[in-house]
Formats: sequence, C-alpha cells, structure tokens
Amino acid sequence: MYLLFGCGVYVCLYLYLKLKKGKCNSKKTLEGKTIVITGANTGIGFETALDLAKRNGRIILACRNAQKGEEAKNKIVQLTGNTSVVFRQVDVSLMSSVKSFVDVIRREENKVDILINNAGIVVQNKIMTEEGLELTFATNHFGPFLLSTLLLDLLRKSKGRIVNVGSAASVIGKVDCDNLRAEKGYSQLQYHNSKTATLLFTKELARRETDVTICCVHPGTVRTNVFRHMPLPVKILISTVFRVLTRSPSEGAQPVLFCALDDSIRTGGYYMDCRLCDHSLWVPKSAYDVGLAKKLWETTEKILAEC
Ligand SMILES: NC(=O)c1ccc[n+]([C@@H]2O[C@H](COP(=O)([O-])OP(=O)(O)OC[C@H]3O[C@@H](n4cnc5c(N)ncnc54)[C@H](OP(=O)(O)O)[C@@H]3O)[C@@H](O)[C@H]2O)c1
Repeated sequence: MYLLFGCGVYVCLYLYLKLKKGKCNSKKTLEGKTIVITGANTGIGFETALDLAKRNGRIILACRNAQKGEEAKNKIVQLTGNTSVVFRQVDVSLMSSVKSFVDVIRREENKVDILINNAGIVVQNKIMTEEGLELTFATNHFGPFLLSTLLLDLLRKSKGRIVNVGSAASVIGKVDCDNLRAEKGYSQLQYHNSKTATLLFTKELARRETDVTICCVHPGTVRTNVFRHMPLPVKILISTVFRVLTRSPSEGAQPVLFCALDDSIRTGGYYMDCRLCDHSLWVPKSAYDVGLAKKLWETTEKILAEC
C-alpha cells in the first residue's frame, strides 16, 4: 500500500517537474550573428553552444582549457556542419586573461550580438587567485562583470544581449561589499553569495544601459560537473534518489537559450523555467536593493582597477 502510494507520488512529481521545466521553442536562425559563450566546453554551456551552432551563428567558445575548447569545437562542427564555430582561450577568474580575450575579440569581430556568461564554479575552500581575488567571486562575479563591461560597445553595435547564468542558490546568498575578496572571512555559502552578486549586477547594468538587453537565468538543477567538489554521498544522492529533481545538460540549456533568443525578454529580468520569475519566492529580497547594487558596482570597479 505504502509502496503504491510512494510510486504514485514519485510519478506525479516526475510529471509535474517535466511539465514545469519549460522549453525554448524559438525557431530563430542566427546567420550573421556573433555569440560569445564562456565555459562552453561542457555541461550547460556546451549544450547551449551546440543549439546555437545549429542555428548557423558564429559561435565563439570562450574556454580556459585549450584542449577541451578545441575538442568541444570539433565536436560541435562535426555535429552541426557549422564551420563558423571557433575556440578562443579565456580564464574568467583572471582579469588579465579577460582583458587579453577582449583584445582578441576586438581584433577579430566588429560586433557581438549575444554574450552568455555561463562559466561558473563551486569551491569548498578559500582559494586566492594570483591577482588577489577569491576564486569563486573571481569566476562568478568579477570575470563576468569585466567581460560584459569591456564588450558593451561591441554589443551596442547590434543592440545585443547579455545572458548571465545565475542560480536559485542566490535565494539564500548575501552580498557584503566589504568582503568581496573574502578579506573578512570565507563563507560556506560563497557560491550562493556570488550568484546573488550576479543578480545585483544584472539589475544594475540594466539600469545603466539602454542599448543592450541584460537578463539573468537559473538553468535548474542540472547533472553536470558543477557538483564535482561536493562530497561523494551528495553526488550519489543527486544521481539516484534525487535524479527526478534534476535535469540533463540539454534540458538545462533550454532556459539559457530562451533568454538568449526570445523576443519577450525584459532587461533586468530574472528567468527560471523559461519564464520571468522576478518577485517569486526564489528571488532574494536584496536583489531589489538599488543602493546595494550601486555599491557592488562601484566596489567591483574599484577592486578591478587594482588588479
Ligand atoms: N548544474 C546546475 O545544477 C546549476 C544550477 C544553477 C546554476 N548553474 C550555473 O550554470 C553554469 C554552468 O554550469 P554547469 O552546470 O554546466 O557546470 P560545469 O559542467 O562544471 O561547466 C562549467 C564550465 O565553466 C568553465 N569554467 C570554470 N571556471 C572557469 C574559468 N575560470 N574560466 C573559464 N571557464 C571556466 C568550466 O571549464 P572546465 O571544463 O575547464 O572546468 C566549464 O566549461 C554555471 O555558471 C553554474 O553556476 C548550474
């Protein structure tokens, strides 16, 4: 009896989550469009790039590891026949690397239509980069901030779009502008905090920028390498009991594609399951704190000037 009830609950939950997921139904083609996507060699980024390549855009796979980047490029070219897919090296946790990457893009492209800040990392312990930034914030906040602001003029030329891949984990994140380099201590919620910063950055840039659309998206809980630093029991739970709650990388790419392609996207908006989720329970109240967003922007600029 209990077993039957359990199975019933599981099936209902499965169907509910499957229907709720959302799908990018855009039939848009991308001939003549240039798309930059970071962390495109695996996971959500790879699946997003693959779909965009099928739409015949010029896709720039911005990855930190040359071998992985070239392999991803070759695979996408082979699967889609799109020979305008290229790999360009960037480590978004290093500001010097972001600047060099932007120099390359400036030399090679006369505009950028879509920038997808997808690269992201979860780390358990405090690690400092050679530039004096804490690794989680360097990768998830400072790198995307610098890349976006340096590419703004190329994006403006096409009235382009920036998609920041955030996370529902931001709902319990907090941003302390006096601790962006973990100088006052490292929080176990550093990833969550960095994704709250992603939301604040999205909303502040939308307030400052009129020619480029910017939005933030939570892709869902997706079975990718992002969980590689989690303890083994958590990883086992995610891939077994909680599998029903998770998505495949190609399903996780759907909300990102929706944000990159759909005409309904509102600048400054936060999206989940291919719909606007602003003011839902998943959004931290601090995301709407205009003073905090301004302070984060100014502190970020100040820290970047020191890098
Ligand atoms: N999976 C989820 O459940 C989930 C949920 C919410 C949000 N997200 C977000 O979705 C995005 C994609 O994550 P994913 O799940 O697809 O994870 P993933 O499989 O671990 O992919 C992350 C990608 O980012 C790249 N990357 C990491 N650090 C980088 C750096 N310093 N410079 C350049 N590239 C770097 C990785 O490169 P390497 O292969 O070289 O490591 C990889 O290509 C992330 O922003 C993540 O926070 C994921």
